[in-house]
Amino acid sequence: MKKFLLLITLLAGSVCNELHAKQTILPRPVSHVERAGEFTITPNSTISFEEELRLSAEYLAEYIALPTRPYNGLRKGDIVLKINKNLDAEEYILDVGRSCVMLQGGSAAGVHNGIETLLQLLPAHIYAKQLALPQSIACARIEDKPRYAYRGFMLDVTRTWIDVEELKHYIEALAHHKINRLHLHLSDDEGWRIEILSHPELTSVGAYRGGDSPVMPRYGKWSEKYGGYYTQAQMREVVAFAAQRNIEIIPEIDLPGHSHNIARVKPEILCNYTPSTSASAGYDTRGVFCVAKEDNYALLEDILGEIADIFPSPYIHIGGDEVSSSQWQLCPDCKALYQSKGMASYSELQLHFMLRLEEILHSLGKKCAVWNEAVKHKGLDLSTRVHCWESMAECHKVLNKGYKTVVQAGEFFYFDMQQGLREGGHFWAGIFDARKTYSFFEQQSILGPYDDLIEGFEASFFSEAYLSNRDLPYNFLHYQTFPRICALSEVAWSAGGEWEEFYSCLTEEHYERMDKMGLSFRIYPPQVTYADGILTAVTDDNTTIYVTHQGVEQPYNGPIATDHPEHYTFRSRMENGISPEAGVKECFSMMHPTLNITTSLPIHAEQTLSRAASYLAPARTIRAAKAGDWVEYRFAEAVRARRAEFHTGTPNMPRFVFREGYVELSEDGENFRRVAELKDGGVVFDHQVTIRALRIVCTADANGASYCLIQSPKLWPIL
Ligand code: ACM
Ligand code: ZN
Repeated sequence: MKKFLLLITLLAGSVCNELHAKQTILPRPVSHVERAGEFTITPNSTISFEEELRLSAEYLAEYIALPTRPYNGLRKGDIVLKINKNLDAEEYILDVGRSCVMLQGGSAAGVHNGIETLLQLLPAHIYAKQLALPQSIACARIEDKPRYAYRGFMLDVTRTWIDVEELKHYIEALAHHKINRLHLHLSDDEGWRIEILSHPELTSVGAYRGGDSPVMPRYGKWSEKYGGYYTQAQMREVVAFAAQRNIEIIPEIDLPGHSHNIARVKPEILCNYTPSTSASAGYDTRGVFCVAKEDNYALLEDILGEIADIFPSPYIHIGGDEVSSSQWQLCPDCKALYQSKGMASYSELQLHFMLRLEEILHSLGKKCAVWNEAVKHKGLDLSTRVHCWESMAECHKVLNKGYKTVVQAGEFFYFDMQQGLREGGHFWAGIFDARKTYSFFEQQSILGPYDDLIEGFEASFFSEAYLSNRDLPYNFLHYQTFPRICALSEVAWSAGGEWEEFYSCLTEEHYERMDKMGLSFRIYPPQVTYADGILTAVTDDNTTIYVTHQGVEQPYNGPIATDHPEHYTFRSRMENGISPEAGVKECFSMMHPTLNITTSLPIHAEQTLSRAASYLAPARTIRAAKAGDWVEYRFAEAVRARRAEFHTGTPNMPRFVFREGYVELSEDGENFRRVAELKDGGVVFDHQVTIRALRIVCTADANGASYCLIQSPKLWPIL
């Protein structure tokens, strides 16, 4: 009672002049009331904690360098961390009084959420762990809890290897946004990233592709051995690091498809037939587990047993996406199983496989998480958590079946999608930025009836395009995912609100925080206008605009008088954040000069070379490129360009490419000189160039795919 009275007294000074705050905290709290007065953290302050909050206190002390001590009564100037069993586990109340800061949470998770809010009440350089004391905070009371329990992010560490240091930095950034699940995509066709002690070859061989590895280097060069993996000790450390930040790591081993990698290490997992490899230059490109082989289940029991031991999460994600049944249809053993079970379609074999794994997981005390295709045929237990990625329509189908659902629809939550027309990334689910993600509930009110089944939301970053963007002057993962993660965080925590309010929180407060977190987040580009001979760029945020003219970038100091607005491009920058380029539209328009394309490769009947030569769509070959294959682009007249790109393969993602080779250029159409080595199947001339003809010559057999794509060239005029 005495303690209670003391608490009342300490907080009482701040009850007058209550003011509901405008949004400065992201995600927006349920209630934020500002009060008169301020609290000052001094070097004499301490962080005092109830025993079960020791790790929370140590976490806070990383940012506010104060001594920590077990709670034994209130002391003026302290930050107190307490459990309040009347609150939900993730709920918290943060009271900043004149004498002390009292943070109560329903559990360590709730206290963590309150700590993240407290950090946001302090200057942004706290995220660089450089907060100088004393430091004052305006008095306030914040009562808060999340709308959804599951606020997740999926990171693909297979296509692009992300080491422990980068992963931890990223986890810190997720935690600052109250994301509480990290779904780690640990295996895929192109890499196996977690040590399995009972099968060390999965990583000693399968963590690498290219070079002397039997695993095909779908992204990157044959000659370069690429990869890496987490030892179990490292992963346990990462799991603990994440847990201290209220993030549960959910491991994914993607099965039974997306398994080309393990199939190269253990070909015995594949179906029982000899595949045709004529299109892929003798390379066995299969990557689906045989459903009929008992040994496969024993192997997976070993693997999942170790995974279950490393990761305390109640769930293991076992994939189930994008599985073709074509290999099973060619396998006598799978066919026999299919017939003996009286199945109506070969895709039912996937359910059979998943049910076997479900049994294994249950015996390990774990529940299944799967991608939505895995419940196409109903059968998995309703304790299964389904990640609905393909579309909102698929999401509805899964909800209708009664499964617990994580909404992860590509059109809102795949952050490997492009954010603008001239930005990197994929586009199968659309081109969108944070605004679309933020507006999820404006567009999807029909989820209401299913609310009990919706555990929450997750965003994805599949990393096929990260690898080829590794040498950008900024971090592509950061750029693709922030501030879209800020929007995800709002959707899952507060269910969103007015975009304008959120946007001003971003630009007035949160850009600075992300910058100090060391994130090369995407800034909205400056607006560029041209009228009466004057070129102007403006932003509505606190960033600095830079202008590039004749290849030189410098700070923009105000309107530019010019007859050539197309000679100037603009970007907003902070220390780490960066916007896409902006300018008048002529800066970005391309030429389409008359062109003929020829090649040594056989071409698909419909996806023709003339289509590519007409700048409409890529041409497709009907086999992979071998050493000695070539493609030649010949223009009707010599073309002068300020920038030119010629690519084989998929835009933004080096697949279906001429894996290795060189480039010859001719200015007169007769005499060729070797000008470049192929990079990711293409060549970029980022300087003025004259081209009458250009030849790409392949020097390495097979690319592990069964065809190549030949893209239309991209040519920017000299301005
Ligand atoms: C997925 O994007 N294939 C889950
Ligand atoms: Zn089979």
